Amino acid sequence: MKTVTVVGARPQFVKAALVSEALRQVGIEELVVHTGQHYDDNMSAVFFSQLRMAPPALNLEVGSGPHGHQTGVMMSRLEPVIAERKPDWVLVYGDTNSTLAGALVAAKLHIPVAHVEAGLRSFNRAMPEEINRIVTDVLAASLLCPTQTAVDHLSREGITAGVHLVGDVMLDLLLAALPEASRGRVLADLDVAPGRYYLATIHRAENTDDPERLHRLMEALEQAPLPVIFPVHPRTRTTLQSSGWTPCAENRLRLIDPVGYLEMVQLEANAHAVLTDSGGVQKEAFFLGRPCVTLRHETEWVETLEGGWNVLAGSDPERILAALGRQPEGEARRDAFGDGHAASAIASILARGA
Ligand code: UD1
Ligand code: UDP
Repeated sequence: MKTVTVVGARPQFVKAALVSEALRQVGIEELVVHTGQHYDDNMSAVFFSQLRMAPPALNLEVGSGPHGHQTGVMMSRLEPVIAERKPDWVLVYGDTNSTLAGALVAAKLHIPVAHVEAGLRSFNRAMPEEINRIVTDVLAASLLCPTQTAVDHLSREGITAGVHLVGDVMLDLLLAALPEASRGRVLADLDVAPGRYYLATIHRAENTDDPERLHRLMEALEQAPLPVIFPVHPRTRTTLQSSGWTPCAENRLRLIDPVGYLEMVQLEANAHAVLTDSGGVQKEAFFLGRPCVTLRHETEWVETLEGGWNVLAGSDPERILAALGRQPEGEARRDAFGDGHAASAIASILARGA
């Protein structure tokens, strides 16, 4: 049995890491195609080396651009690869333009699509990711859901065939990587003490395309009561630079380049709290039992809201600072995301052609 796996953006390298390993173990031959959506070393290569993944067999080098252009170029470069390889499955992850391109090309070539992280919904169609998820789920033959909530969303949309509740591959990886991440030096390198800093990430279009909104978020980070470590996504750096944002004179906000996965996990695990608009970072904070303030008005990961472990605060500095001051209740119950064996469940499902 053969798959073509399409990845292209940072979270997809993280999601694919253990699935590739699990596919190998059940004897499925995988051809990993990188669309080239993310290309800086610290957005791409670092994940392959840290997570000990084989380099992609092919990089389509599509690069950045508007949605239609980027997705279109991906499709035209993917089509001959998938047509020639004739895999049993095309495997796609999450909700990026690389996901959409892989799903559309495969479906038109009549090759079954397997979608890891199927069934997620924000119910906000202004997000490009929501469009990508909906279309991919409609086309997929195997819908590999991380949570029961995701299964329920699909069922309400009339999608019940090929739906499997497998758990979250990001939990698998976090559990596997934690011992190595804990031995890292990133806290010492940044000169911060455990529990004495916040960790922030921002990259969503809704937060970065409007400079005023991004400046409000920066204001909140500058006013936080502890130093904030902020690995800046290239998209966000571009808006900060082009909009003439300047830090206020006395602030403890530390803008750094994007970090590798192991450093990120160590920073998350030791943060007093996390502020983010990232889907993956919200979950990782929850898995690690760290409070999270989400810089959006909705989340796909509603399980993380329980007990106040994750609070939706949007972009208003007052709301964000108030949310930072809250204490979560009870335990962060990560069992809603499976038992850490999602990758092998996915491999078994694909191996039996389900
Ligand atoms: C993409 C995904 C988003 C995901 C995010 C993860 C879509 C529509 N969006 O958003 O769902 O959460 O990845 O990080 O697919 N850039 C660089 N170097 C790089 C990559 C990007 O400089 O290696 C800059 C370019 O200016 C580019 C911008 O970042 O135009 C945005 O990149 P793009 O991949 O289009 O979208 P993301 O915001 O990264
Ligand atoms: N991440 C990382 N370094 C960073 C920021 C994020 O390794 O500087 C990891 C993070 O730990 C998670 C994944 O990238 O595993 C999430 O990707 P991102 O936030 O870019 O995308 P999203 O999850 O929002 O789609």
